[in-house]
Amino acid sequence: MGTPAKTGAPVTLTVDGFEVTVPEGTSVMRAAAEAGISVPKLCATDSLEAFGSCRLCVVEIEGRRGTPASCTTPVAPGMAVRTQSDKVRKVRKGVMELYISDHPLDCLTCAANGDCELQDMAGAVGLRNVRYKAPDNGGLANHFETRDSSGETNPEWLPKDDSNPYFTYDPSKCIVCNRCVRACEEVQGTFALTIEGRGFDSRVSAGAASDDFLSSDCVSCGACVQACPTATLQEKSVIEMGTPDRSVVTTCAYCGVGCTFKAE
Ligand code: FES
Repeated sequence: MGTPAKTGAPVTLTVDGFEVTVPEGTSVMRAAAEAGISVPKLCATDSLEAFGSCRLCVVEIEGRRGTPASCTTPVAPGMAVRTQSDKVRKVRKGVMELYISDHPLDCLTCAANGDCELQDMAGAVGLRNVRYKAPDNGGLANHFETRDSSGETNPEWLPKDDSNPYFTYDPSKCIVCNRCVRACEEVQGTFALTIEGRGFDSRVSAGAASDDFLSSDCVSCGACVQACPTATLQEKSVIEMGTPDRSVVTTCAYCGVGCTFKAE
């Protein structure tokens, strides 16, 4: 969470007034979790290295300016962290509003409905209205524009990549959290995915040399699909048959390494 667990010298700090002691090098987000406080997040996970891209996990730290990301900020002795001040609530809500302004509002028919971290976090930060609407959102990151016969431009969602037999890639739902790219590198060691473009134009790509996932270096291990917080990377079986009603984590018996996997 933020960064994998650390084992350094103990550091004592307070999070929302609760004292907590964690090893040196621990992230503020993980320290908050140790104190029983959950900080909203989208790009951080329990297993991947912290990346600090979504800016949803911001906190206030006494004596410091701004609102740093708790997943990439290490603890310090005597630090006083506030995770629920008016200021951080406002920043989180604004960040979430920008995400939703460039995301299809088709939750009710989306395969990830009820199992979507973007949906969960929108609820967690209390987002009810989105003030920014396309085309006023500054760049239409997940769209491209078509021109009709009258010369009017119309925004359209980026098309799906359906080439892989096991999963689909829907760039319109991507929030560029980089979790799939990091899972591909850190879990699988394949380096098949990358982020191309900058700012509003940045998006996940299966390599500059390939047009789609199937012709890329992707080995279909599924690490990216499991890491995705939205329906951007979605198993085809989930799309066709719906979300499973139960899952079991088990250990593969094939060799002695002891890899675990989730069966649904
Ligand atoms: Fe910290 Fe995304 S969870 S920046």
